Amino acid sequence: MARLDSKRIIVTGAASGIGKAVAQACLAEGAQVVIADFNAALGQQTATAIGAGFIACDVSDEQSVVAMVGEAVAKMGGLDGLVNNAGLQKAGPIAQTTVADWDDLMGVNVRGVFLATREAIPHLKAAGGGSIVNTASLAAKRGGPGIGAYAASKGAVMAFTTATALELAKDGIRANSICPGFIDTPFNNPAIGFMGGREAQAELVKTMVPLGRQATPEEVAPMYVYLLSDESGYVTAQALSIDGGVYN
Ligand SMILES: NC(=O)c1ccc[n+]([C@@H]2O[C@H](COP(=O)([O-])OP(=O)(O)OC[C@H]3O[C@@H](n4cnc5c(N)ncnc54)[C@H](O)[C@@H]3O)[C@@H](O)[C@H]2O)c1
Repeated sequence: MARLDSKRIIVTGAASGIGKAVAQACLAEGAQVVIADFNAALGQQTATAIGAGFIACDVSDEQSVVAMVGEAVAKMGGLDGLVNNAGLQKAGPIAQTTVADWDDLMGVNVRGVFLATREAIPHLKAAGGGSIVNTASLAAKRGGPGIGAYAASKGAVMAFTTATALELAKDGIRANSICPGFIDTPFNNPAIGFMGGREAQAELVKTMVPLGRQATPEEVAPMYVYLLSDESGYVTAQALSIDGGVYN
């Protein structure tokens, strides 16, 4: 028996990067998976390649999320797991951060998590319980130069996850966040630019990360599988780090 047999799981932001690796790992463990991403071309391509369902969705838009969750549940016949992973990165000094950038980050990273969680709750309850896994960030536990607004948005994800876990524990719904450190995906390009380029980032990683390197998305995915599976049945309201030892 595979670890996620009979589990029906939505993964947002899974056209590429961490979400794609999570979707693949869930499928390998026997789950049904629907990918929800606003990049319709790449999302559909990824879904077809790995054998997941695909629904185009902008997680910051209420109607889009309402429709996506309804359609995913209809496709899979219910819902046991939700991975809120879609995220946006904008880097720059706080003194030059615009309200539009701040609102964009909060719209995707915070409102997106809230909306999908809200829409998933009745379906997770109907399934007799479930697991919500939210992608926060090392930035939530330890901010850094040039990521003030991003760090604030991921701090909100961590706090919302704890509140979700405590409110829904009585319904058998667990909620945890994962705080990745430096993961090698296109996501960090804006921050790499701010740091002075790829070489400067590699130097920073060497000095800042005890394990001395970035991780691949495939190294992060097993933590999601664990939290989505019944193996983690007594784990809730946690923010688990996977960052090569940076946060300690
Ligand atoms: N890469 C890292 O170092 C790192 C570190 C900590 C946290 N994270 C978090 O991991 C998550 C995944 O990022 P990644 O590194 O895999 O990057 P990625 O760019 O490969 O993936 C992000 C995905 O989110 C999708 N997305 C963006 N805005 C969306 C929206 N409004 N609606 C739906 N989908 C949307 C993108 O199309 C993309 O497929 C993000 O939440 C990010 O904040 C990444």
